[in-house]
Amino acid sequence: MRKAILTKQKDCQRFTIPTENDWEPLAEYLASRLKPGDAVALSGPLGAGKTTFVQHLARALGVKKIPSSPTFALMRSYSIPGRRQLKRLLHVDAYRIDDERDILALDLDDELSDGRAALVLEWPEHVPRWIKKRASVWSLEIRGEPISRLRRPAAPGVEGRKGGP
Ligand SMILES: Nc1ncnc2c1ncn2[C@@H]1O[C@H](COP(=O)(O)OP(=O)(O)O)[C@@H](O)[C@H]1O
Ligand SMILES: [Mg+2]
Repeated sequence: MRKAILTKQKDCQRFTIPTENDWEPLAEYLASRLKPGDAVALSGPLGAGKTTFVQHLARALGVKKIPSSPTFALMRSYSIPGRRQLKRLLHVDAYRIDDERDILALDLDDELSDGRAALVLEWPEHVPRWIKKRASVWSLEIRGEPISRLRRPAAPGVEGRKGGP
């Protein structure tokens, strides 16, 4: 079960998201408050549901296309047809950004200052100085039960089992 904590300045809301279909209340909550120039910093381990949340947020905003993970493209932009001010949702996944200067190449500060776009950012921990400088940042922290994986034992190869008892 995922627990999400959404904060902006002193405003702090907690949501429990039992399954991947239960993001809607949180998505609606944020969609009704998100303004042009806002950034949403999405924290949580791999597989926490960050991209899934972006999909629900996009739907709540009226975006027609379902966002996919921008891990390789770094950034994707979605048009919001139905709102007066907020016209674009930018989705960035900073997972692959090792050098913080790489985020500058995306011109996000310019994109966010035209009064029409808001940003959702996965892995804000990879660009801490950039996010610290932004004026209006929501923080969404998604935490889940520890994920345990059961791995099948490797089938014995021609060389036989290695490292076995
Ligand atoms: N609230 C939830 N409870 C259980 N599983 C979820 C939940 N939200 C998303 N998932 C599932 O977790 C997996 C990883 O989600 P994803 O959004 O890609 O994570 P992230 O972007 O944080 O790495 C997906 O298979 C998704 O369907
Ligand atoms: Mg993701």
